[in-house]
Amino acid sequence: MALTIEPINPYFGARVGGISIRDGVDEETFAAIAATFEEHSVLVFAGQPVTDDEQVAFTERFGPLEPTIAGVVGTGSKVVRVSNMLPDGTLKEPGGRLSLFGRANGFWHTDSSFRSCPAKASMLSARLIPEQGGDTEFASTRAAFEALDPARQADLVEMVAVHSLAFSRRKLSPDAISPEQEAALPPVEQALVRTNPVTGRKSLLIGAHVEDILGMVHEEAQALLAELLELATQPRFCYRHRWTVGDIVMWDNRAVLHRGHDYDEVNSKRLLIRTTLAGDGPTAADGQLLEAA
Ligand code: OGA
Ligand code: MN
Repeated sequence: MALTIEPINPYFGARVGGISIRDGVDEETFAAIAATFEEHSVLVFAGQPVTDDEQVAFTERFGPLEPTIAGVVGTGSKVVRVSNMLPDGTLKEPGGRLSLFGRANGFWHTDSSFRSCPAKASMLSARLIPEQGGDTEFASTRAAFEALDPARQADLVEMVAVHSLAFSRRKLSPDAISPEQEAALPPVEQALVRTNPVTGRKSLLIGAHVEDILGMVHEEAQALLAELLELATQPRFCYRHRWTVGDIVMWDNRAVLHRGHDYDEVNSKRLLIRTTLAGDGPTAADGQLLEAA
């Protein structure tokens, strides 16, 4: 089998074929996949059924994994169950905290940007998919940044934002986050613009977790963020993935936003397994940018 790479649109995304993750991917092929990931931001691998252990092993070839956050099913393990069901197959209580956590995925976001070291990448494999709905959509914040004029880019590159899980969770409901979770994950600073260390291309680090921008009043920051979000999520910069069981999709949290679309959470079953790659380090602290621009 020979590796095939087919771009999804002119801005980002690629379908990767001609390999079997389960049977093993040789070093040279893996290096080509890793390079494609840096270049295309979202990789779609169709027809790749995997066990949790196989998924963990494949993800770890890209780098170390991030530990799961407290208070979700599977805390402390290397995988996150993204599902409307508990591990025993029963439904999560509709409207309960665990269901709300799932709903939060409906906002455009990047994974773990509320951690001081935000996630580099995430990988989902589809185990059970509803007949309708439940698509996952991606938007290129790299295409958005590159669409801005240079003066605007230069302004944004200087900015430091504040990200907070409590802020994004409270958009859903005042008690969508427990006091323990909030205490464990206080707000963190992040660069507003990130630079990919391999390609040198820049992207916006925005999404639901961004609460403020240093030096701006809250309303002004939120207006700027809304404008940037609208730019990034215009249809030509988006790719919407309709899942088939056995699909694996991997995305670059540094360069895309994503969101989950609604489905019938009471009458259908959806189970995706997520592995998350840890980031290389913090992007800002104490008001200072830490990544090379
Ligand atoms: C995630 C996520 C969206 C979805 O797993 O990080 O945001 O469609 N998932 O399930
Ligand atoms: Mn997510």
